[in-house]
Amino acid sequence: MVGMPDDFERMWADLAPVGRSATSGGYFRQPYTTPERELVSWFAEQARERGLRLEDDASGNVAAWWDAGASPGVLTGSHLDSVLDGGAYDGPLGVVSALAAVDLLRAQGFVPSRPIGVSVFVEEEGSRFGLACLGSRLATGLLPWEQARLLRDRDGVALEEVVEGGGPGLLSDVGTFVELHVEQGRDLVDRGAAVGVASEIWPHGRYRFEFTGEANHAGTTRMEDRADPMLAYAMTALAANKQARLADQRATFGRVEVAPNGTNAVPSRVVGWLDARCSSDDALSTLVDTVVRQATERAERDGTSVEVTPESVSGAVVFDPDLAARIAADHEGGDWPVIPTAAGHDAGLLSAAGIPTAMLFVRNPTGVSHSPAETASMPDCLAGVHALAETLERLAT
Ligand code: GLV
Ligand code: MN
Ligand code: MN
Repeated sequence: MVGMPDDFERMWADLAPVGRSATSGGYFRQPYTTPERELVSWFAEQARERGLRLEDDASGNVAAWWDAGASPGVLTGSHLDSVLDGGAYDGPLGVVSALAAVDLLRAQGFVPSRPIGVSVFVEEEGSRFGLACLGSRLATGLLPWEQARLLRDRDGVALEEVVEGGGPGLLSDVGTFVELHVEQGRDLVDRGAAVGVASEIWPHGRYRFEFTGEANHAGTTRMEDRADPMLAYAMTALAANKQARLADQRATFGRVEVAPNGTNAVPSRVVGWLDARCSSDDALSTLVDTVVRQATERAERDGTSVEVTPESVSGAVVFDPDLAARIAADHEGGDWPVIPTAAGHDAGLLSAAGIPTAMLFVRNPTGVSHSPAETASMPDCLAGVHALAETLERLAT
């Protein structure tokens, strides 16, 4: 029967085949595409079966409410989209755990004194339209629809062509937000804890580096006559890695496009996207400024050019420390560890919008994420459901 406390495993099995690659075993659940919309329909069905009230906005964000007590409500949830060839847990774990936690609280006879909602934010990964946490940026109003609607995916399709947008947000009656998420590192493994609480999110930026040169023949063009943008790109990828290692920060070029992308032609254009994460806003600016300067100098030496566009920059997020302490303390078996993360989350946007926000992490034995190898054990997932139910009980009593 739907809505029983042991429903986590059944729901998890429902999701497993959706958008899964038969070759890599990873997930391709890009926003507003069939697999991701199938998951959102599945979520709506779960809400209906539990008698939860569904609310959606015009951007593709949804929430399912257990209406009870007096506003403002406690919202919990995560996202159902994935990175390209992503893991099963990043996002869906928070949504399925939220539904299972509601089931558990109901089975325990808990009567909330506030509404409890389960949310799904769209395009958290920015895998299609480039902007991380697009849905929660729109829902909080931190990104106006007028600015978002012209964002384009890799095929040139504008956001406004796939979703209506511009509707009222979902968050007007939300007093607290809690996101449960698989940990994307090994902090909890090292601490021997199944569950932890987030203290902060590192600042994060995505920057588009467009290197422009001149296409020419790979055989007949003398080396000294070339304007090859690949060289500055290659040097920049190495420089970003070196600067990040020297400063104990993170920098990645994980996406690159080359035009015309022919083996026997010097390219005319190389576009690479830098993802940089740092322990402070100043460290992020210093890292990115250094990489941009080195890219520019190298491009000039080669007779090419580079143009850098910041596509999304999110400042440091420090979660409400009193809320984190309240959630982490006084548990059978001891307090839950409070740990930082360098991964981005919708919770960061809700916190930045002034909503008291917390996060729970569930241990990931390998620490691997944004990869088909991402995992969590079933006992740890169930520990997460119990932790979330306990948290909701504290917040909605
Ligand atoms: C999202 O998971 C991100 O940190 O990029
Ligand atoms: Mn992710
Ligand atoms: Mn995520």
